[in-house]
Amino acid sequence: MAKTRKRCPTGQRKDPKTGKCKGTKKKRCPAGQHRDKKSGKCKDKDILAKKAMKEKAKREEKAKKEKAKKEEKAKKEKAKKEKAKKEKAKKEKAKKAKTKRVKTKRVKKKKDNNKSKKIKKQGRKLKLKENVDKKVLNAKEANDIEKQFEEYIKMRKAKKEEKKKNEKSDKDDKKKSKKSKVKDVLKMRKEYSVLGLKKDTWFSDPCYVLGNIKRKLKIKSWTPTILKKLNKTLPIMTRKTPTSGDFTYGNYEVILHEQIGAGSFGTIYKATMKDKLTGIKKKIVLKSIVTKKPNEFLLESIMHMELFCGLRGQWGEGARIPKLEFISKYASPRGEDGWKYIVGMEMLDGDGWDFFDKHAKKSVVMSTAIKDLSTLLKKLQDKYQFMHRDFHLGNIMYKKTPDKKIKMYIIDFGLSTMKINNKWVNRMSTTYHYRKTYEFNSSQDLRMLFTCMLYKSIGTPLKKDFFKYLYQIEKPILNYYDIEAGNLWWDTYKELIPYYDSNFTPKSVIKYMDKIIKKEDVGTLPAPTIKVLRHGSKLPKKPYSNGTLHSELEYLKRRLN
Ligand SMILES: Nc1ncnc2c1ncn2[C@@H]1O[C@H](COP(=O)(O)OP(=O)(O)OP(=O)(O)O)[C@@H](O)[C@H]1O
Ligand SMILES: [Mg+2]
Repeated sequence: MAKTRKRCPTGQRKDPKTGKCKGTKKKRCPAGQHRDKKSGKCKDKDILAKKAMKEKAKREEKAKKEKAKKEEKAKKEKAKKEKAKKEKAKKEKAKKAKTKRVKTKRVKKKKDNNKSKKIKKQGRKLKLKENVDKKVLNAKEANDIEKQFEEYIKMRKAKKEEKKKNEKSDKDDKKKSKKSKVKDVLKMRKEYSVLGLKKDTWFSDPCYVLGNIKRKLKIKSWTPTILKKLNKTLPIMTRKTPTSGDFTYGNYEVILHEQIGAGSFGTIYKATMKDKLTGIKKKIVLKSIVTKKPNEFLLESIMHMELFCGLRGQWGEGARIPKLEFISKYASPRGEDGWKYIVGMEMLDGDGWDFFDKHAKKSVVMSTAIKDLSTLLKKLQDKYQFMHRDFHLGNIMYKKTPDKKIKMYIIDFGLSTMKINNKWVNRMSTTYHYRKTYEFNSSQDLRMLFTCMLYKSIGTPLKKDFFKYLYQIEKPILNYYDIEAGNLWWDTYKELIPYYDSNFTPKSVIKYMDKIIKKEDVGTLPAPTIKVLRHGSKLPKKPYSNGTLHSELEYLKRRLN
């Protein structure tokens, strides 16, 4: 008989090993009960229904509360809006009333003014008539006086209106600039107020302009891109006719006079700058530049401004760097890119060549001037690690004060290098000689000046103490550089820059100048400490022989013996 196989209940399976049914079939709930979904246990239907009802009621209650809350909030907001509306209306009403009051007051004042003017006019006329009657004046004279007076009043009125107009345009500018983005700020001709500058007078103080540009544009380094932008926005001068020497620059008229100098890139003129509003005139010097590289010109001007502003106030009066009056350009077919660049600056009395000719015989005057320049250089070195790198007699200047004292100046920063905001500027010059990076060398500039004076000493009457010093300080150069006849200029300066020579530092020069000023004997100068600053440059094993001494040095030696 076949075995009857029992089936497993639904939801269970037979285990093939044990033959028993296994699985998790849940038992059905007994009649009258339902399985609670949460606990999984069987519970009475009534209890479950009650629970569901309770939960539903709870939900309904919550929804009701939330609805009431929302309604309350909307009510409050509506009330708030209405209150604000009322207040606004109230304010507007008050404002209208105030403007009305002001207007009526103004109208009344104007009426009163007109009345008093009329009375004054009548009074004046009466007085004139009285004078005519008394024969103090004749009728024509009285008429002329009245006419002059009326013209004066007209002029005063016109001036007032002009002032009002200017104020309005300044206000408009301010409004516009608030909307404009900072990237447009370099458009100086249009965006004065963003820079906190007043229209047309923007260059009356170079330090104010420089400071504002740097601060407002957050300029930390003068990159080629920034300089390019600056060039695009440089204020433009207009020329009366294509060949005239009469220019307009904002409110100023700039009139060119005679040429006083010519350098490698530019021509220097005397000029007058006249403020058209006040009629005030100022004598200035104008340097007109033709360049393929406007960025170089702009960088030179920025360095000039930076040094002027950094030094202003440190000498009681003046900065020993001539003040820049403006930087500009004008359209010219002879300019490399269609423009000629132009700077206006404070006029000085003469350059170092001129000074040397006048004072070479006076050791004290010469030494005071060199001491003055060395003090200035020391300040610049300490503050900016400044190297002029073109420190010959043509780039030092002097100015006499009203009390006949002499102040020394430095000009022409085209080859200079310095640290602005801790970043080197113009370290490698692209045009001429300093094409590699050079370490800061505090002896370079004064060595160049003394070498230039050595060259100039030929044919100039000498005074022994100053030139004894000149000979002594120059001769040790032969320890590291072979000065051959005729190469005292550019090549020498460029080749000398890696060699530090302790005798030429401002500190050392000041010490010896003081001795000459006090008429003490200079004595024998100590042998200088020579250091090589550039990797790859070497000191010669032996000093160069006297046979290669530059003829100027030989000449000086002969005259001193
Ligand atoms: N502010 C000034 N006041 C009076 N004279 C000046 C002034 N600036 C320059 N000069 C005269 O013009 C000459 C040349 O000026 P500057 O050195 O600025 O021009 P440059 O073209 O750079 O010359 P270089 O490159 O040959 O040195 C000076 O040596 C000086 O005689
Ligand atoms: Mg020069």
